[in-house]
Amino acid sequence: MIQKTPIAVLISGRGSNMRALIEACERPDYPARIALVLSNRPDAVGLEVARAAGLQTIAIDHKPFGKDREAHERKVDAAIRASGAQIVCLAGYMRVLTPFLVNSWEGRMLNIHPSLLPAFPGLHTHEAALAAGAKEHGCTIHFVTSGVDEGPILGQARVPVHADDTPDTLGARVLDQEHRLYPETLAKIIGQQS
Ligand code: GRF
Repeated sequence: MIQKTPIAVLISGRGSNMRALIEACERPDYPARIALVLSNRPDAVGLEVARAAGLQTIAIDHKPFGKDREAHERKVDAAIRASGAQIVCLAGYMRVLTPFLVNSWEGRMLNIHPSLLPAFPGLHTHEAALAAGAKEHGCTIHFVTSGVDEGPILGQARVPVHADDTPDTLGARVLDQEHRLYPETLAKIIGQQS
């Protein structure tokens, strides 16, 4: 029986990358298991998906904390630690992190970003790629550091940009690759750390 590393998955919305991680973790030979799914939005659709899969979930709403991002993160950090998770996977977690959480999980927190970083950090990456006339687009998994969408790149997947692409068609092509890349890269990182 393979030793599975417990992970926490942090979401804010639909959670399709989380679903890809759930499916991977269900495989007996996959080296991770999901100890916690955490959302900063109590109404995130992904929370329902996670509950339906029988996973432990928690919502820690950021709104009552106002501008005190670190106070919110201290609750998030405590919940992650209580779950026993050793790696944190950001999967559409729409919060800019403070040094508190970044430093707490340095080298153990991954993020997925829908562009070929360093190209197109930030939001609306598919629009940006089309506006720039990019011939190729894709997604990146990286370690989280204090700069937004910076940090050592762990894996990338590329897709072609078609002449008739819209942000939606291009985004869907990228998202398919995200769902493949995240489980693959997480397994690679766990293999390197153990
Ligand atoms: C994905 O495109 C991911 O790359 C970005 O946010 C989106 C989350 O989608 N960080 P989902 O919630 O995983 O469906």
